[in-house]
Order: sequence, then structure tokens, then C-alpha cells
Amino acid sequence: MVPLNQWIKIKAPATVANMVCGFDILGFAVNNPYDEMEMRMVARCVDQSRSDKPSGSLNKADRVDKAAITIINIDDYNLPTDPEKNVAGAALIAMIEEYTANNFNKTLLYEDSDTSSNTNDSLIKIETNIGFIDFSKIGFEVKINKLIKPGSGVGSSAASSAGAVVGANYLLGNPFSKDDLVRFAMNGEKVASGVKHADNIAPCIHGGVTLVRSIFPLEVIALPSPTLYVTIVHPQIEVRTADARSILKQNVKLKDAIKQWGNIAGLVAGLMKGDYDLIGRSLEDVIIEPVRSILIPGFDDLKKACKAVGALGGGISGSGPSIFFLSKEKETALAVENEMKKLYLSLGLAHHTYVTTINQTGVEIKA
Ligand code: HSE
Repeated sequence: MVPLNQWIKIKAPATVANMVCGFDILGFAVNNPYDEMEMRMVARCVDQSRSDKPSGSLNKADRVDKAAITIINIDDYNLPTDPEKNVAGAALIAMIEEYTANNFNKTLLYEDSDTSSNTNDSLIKIETNIGFIDFSKIGFEVKINKLIKPGSGVGSSAASSAGAVVGANYLLGNPFSKDDLVRFAMNGEKVASGVKHADNIAPCIHGGVTLVRSIFPLEVIALPSPTLYVTIVHPQIEVRTADARSILKQNVKLKDAIKQWGNIAGLVAGLMKGDYDLIGRSLEDVIIEPVRSILIPGFDDLKKACKAVGALGGGISGSGPSIFFLSKEKETALAVENEMKKLYLSLGLAHHTYVTTINQTGVEIKA
């Protein structure tokens, strides 16, 4: 466990959700861009009105005091700092709730120990005889430097939520599994888009390519992949995930569903076999892309141009507006970048591009 007040540094990668055909279930992490965060566990004063209550009588709201979490934005995006409205804060609240619920009875057993009566930094011995922390006495401070622009479609909200819970878990001595952390971080996605989806969170935490076979109960499968180069263009427009979800059709024709199932299965098989041609053939989406692509200027022309220079395939990254293409060789990925720049220059639309690779580690901590 990391001592109180000691800052750790966190690097949380961007992610490409959906992977074209796998809406809400497939995704992968990339090495660039990424968010930087710093986090520490701090002592905080016990609220007397609460400490008078027997611990067992506290309700959930009392146990997870918002004051336990301080969000400090060190970028210019002006994101909410209220923990309930901030994606990292919402993810941490879910984590603290479960941590507290799991250990609360044990806290009562040790009510008289030196862990429950001290409120200043030097006296709190949170390692304790029982190996857990009383959240009425500590909190987390999280500094967030978003290098992944919010609303860009490359998992900006997921990076903050995932980074926060991986960081908190590390500070607590890693009591939770990666799948637990994915569950907590999904609460951040709910704040961001109104829906708990895990196709950005899972690769952000696990690294690599992931398949979310089921959300409730959560089952994440890490998939292997051959070496792939990823080219991303982020046209500087904002597409809100909630909006991009609200325009989707609620019913799917059976013939479209059959095509989509074939492509998802083909993509997973292609990744596992390292079959680049099969990966390329499977990167087609007949359900979501036809609806969403109208939100992205130049989408159809860009797709043709990128494939013409040799990209295996690609499409909308998450809910857009970013677009990604996969290539077998770096030279192809650079040629794809060139096509992206050419197209958006011709449209007079400001844009950023990235040529990167699949990130295999997920969120990283530097103590
Ligand atoms: N699967 C989600 C969507 C990802 O496409 O709406 C959002 O980043």
C-alpha cells in the first residue's frame, strides 16, 4: 500500500471502441494519445455529525461522502469537479461504495483500535490490523490533465474513469481485480453518455483488444492481435456520444444482423489467427455506420481513399467524430495519415492525426 499523501502518476491510454462491427462489445487501446493523471490518498477530518452515529447505522450516502474525492482539472476543458458529475469521481464513488460495503462489519470489530480515532496524518495507520481502510477518514485527490480531447471519440471519458480506479486500487494495495475496476469505471461512462458500456473501459484497463461478451454479469475477454498500425484522424468537431446513440435505429433487420454476426466472428477469428486479410474483410458495419457516418464530414470519401492506399479497413472510432484505420505496415499507416490530412485540408476542417500502435498494457502507474 502507498503511504498517505504520496502522489502517484497515472498514464491512461485512448481507446477505439466498436472496432467497426462490434458495437458496444469490441475495442482496443492505443499508445497515443493518452491522459496524464496524478493521485494521492489523503487524511480528512471526520464529520462530527457522522462520527456520532454508530457505524452500522450509516446509510450509503453517509458512507460515501462526496468530500472523500477531490477532482482537480489541470487542463482547459473546464470539466465538472463535483465528483458525482465527473466521470473519474463517479467511478471512484462506485469503487468506494463496494469497498466500504465489503468491509464495513469488520470496521465495527475494530472500532476501538488506533485506526478509528485519529484524524491527523501522522497518526492514521490505515494499513491496520485488518488490511482495509476506513473511508470516513481518508479520501482521494485526483489531478487530471486531459490530453485526449473530450468528445473526440477515442475514449476520453473512459481514460479518466479507468485511470482513477486503477490509481485508487493501487493506492489501496490492489484489493480489486481488473474486472471489478471495469465495473466501477462503467459508472463514469454512465455520467458521460447515459449508458454503462464497457467497450472503451475494458481495453483501457486490460490493454490490447478486448471483447465484452456480457455487461451484466461482466465478462471481458482479452483477445490477441497481430502487429497492427493504427491511424486516427480527429476532425475538430464535437459529436456527443449521447447524441450519436440517440439517432440509432432500435430495430435491426435479420439479414443485417446475420452480416454483422459474420463480421464480428470473422474479426475475432482473424485477430486470433493473425490473418490480416480476414481482419480487413471483417471490418464492415452494416448497422451503426450507415446511420452515424452522416455526422462526420467526408466519411465515405475518406474510407475509399484509405482503403485505396492499402489500409486493411476501419471506420468510426467509438461514436465519432474520430475515424481510424488499421494497417499491416507502418508505411501504409503513414500513407493513410496523408490521405486523411489531404481530405480534411480540402474540406477546410481543422484536424489532428495520430499514427500509433495497439497499447498492450492498459493504464500504467508510476509510483
Ligand atoms: N460503443 C459506444 C458507442 C462507444 O458507439 O456509442 C462510445 O465511445
